[in-house]
Amino acid sequence: MLSALRRSVVGQTRAFSTGHISVNGFVGAVGNTPLIYLKTLSEQTGAEIYGKAEFQNPGGSIKDRAAVGVVTDAEERGLIKPGGTVVEGTAGNTGIGLAHVCRNKGYKCVIFMPNSQSQEKIDLLRMLGAEVYPVPAVAYENPANYNHQARDYAKSLDNAIWTDQFDNTANAKAHYVSTGPEIWEQTEGKLDGFICATGTGGTLAGVGKYLKEKSGGKTQVWLADPPGSVLYTYVSSGGKLAERSGSSITEGIGQGRITNNLGTFINDIDGALHIADEKSISMIYQLLDTEGLYVGASTALNVVAAVELAQKLGKGSRVATVLCDGAYRYQSRLFSKKWLQSKGLEAAIPEHLKKYAVLD
Ligand SMILES: Cc1ncc(COP(=O)(O)O)c(C=O)c1O
Repeated sequence: MLSALRRSVVGQTRAFSTGHISVNGFVGAVGNTPLIYLKTLSEQTGAEIYGKAEFQNPGGSIKDRAAVGVVTDAEERGLIKPGGTVVEGTAGNTGIGLAHVCRNKGYKCVIFMPNSQSQEKIDLLRMLGAEVYPVPAVAYENPANYNHQARDYAKSLDNAIWTDQFDNTANAKAHYVSTGPEIWEQTEGKLDGFICATGTGGTLAGVGKYLKEKSGGKTQVWLADPPGSVLYTYVSSGGKLAERSGSSITEGIGQGRITNNLGTFINDIDGALHIADEKSISMIYQLLDTEGLYVGASTALNVVAAVELAQKLGKGSRVATVLCDGAYRYQSRLFSKKWLQSKGLEAAIPEHLKKYAVLD
């Protein structure tokens, strides 16, 4: 049952007459990413630290899995028919994943996003064939928020779905049937800890649930949280939901509420770590210098958290996280001296790594 479900989300294949296997289109190329052993950090901590190379998905991020998952689920439930429209509220990677999936499956893709987003993001989605509506950047509680506008627009059309990435648990299920089993197999069923940050919560909830089930509860599953998010306090206080305050340079992670996706797993989380931006920015440069990996800030935060969790679990422990996307979408900021100064982060980068900040 699981493998059929897994194949519907990732790794749809075609066999040649010789028996060799190719994958079927964009959708077939999603998932089955390598698990990278992070040598320097492992040696420094005396633990084994692994990062799952989600930047190798064909749309460039971990959100390709969620995009395939929510669209496939809607098809299976008969909510969308050929030629239909997929609508989502997103400012980032989910929109990119959905735009690719829609071209591959022949659907129209419509994206609502806050008008505070860069022109590059709007242009990229339009290049990928999506129709994009930048709308006023207002809080979730406001009916004009981009998520609510996406929902209302989908309702107004025939043969259309709002994929609702935050609260549609087909998102977490995509990780339960693909990312979780891949990590379990790649670590040969010996994994002491898994940790990652959350945006929708789909990754942590889906992977966490699978790992807990397979390990009989032995694999510890932790949440990593950037500044400006309420989840660290929620988990470490045993359920207190604080007001959102502060902000972070990370994108795609941090949350002000318990989404349905995170809600499916939040009571099984073993603990949470708060990771300051100074540590995340420094890790971006360190991963480049010592591992040759060019990653975005949420990935760097995840790796800092994996190191800290490995230190808690002790020498010899094996810990995994996800490498969500590459630095390509953020390079004009992350590698700009001016931008780093404007955020007060220049001093966080060790002297010998400053040479990588080549942009003015
Ligand atoms: C770069 C990046 N990292 C991490 C995440 C968080 O993943 P999830 O939504 O599964 O919690 C996202 C989600 O949009 C993202 O874009």
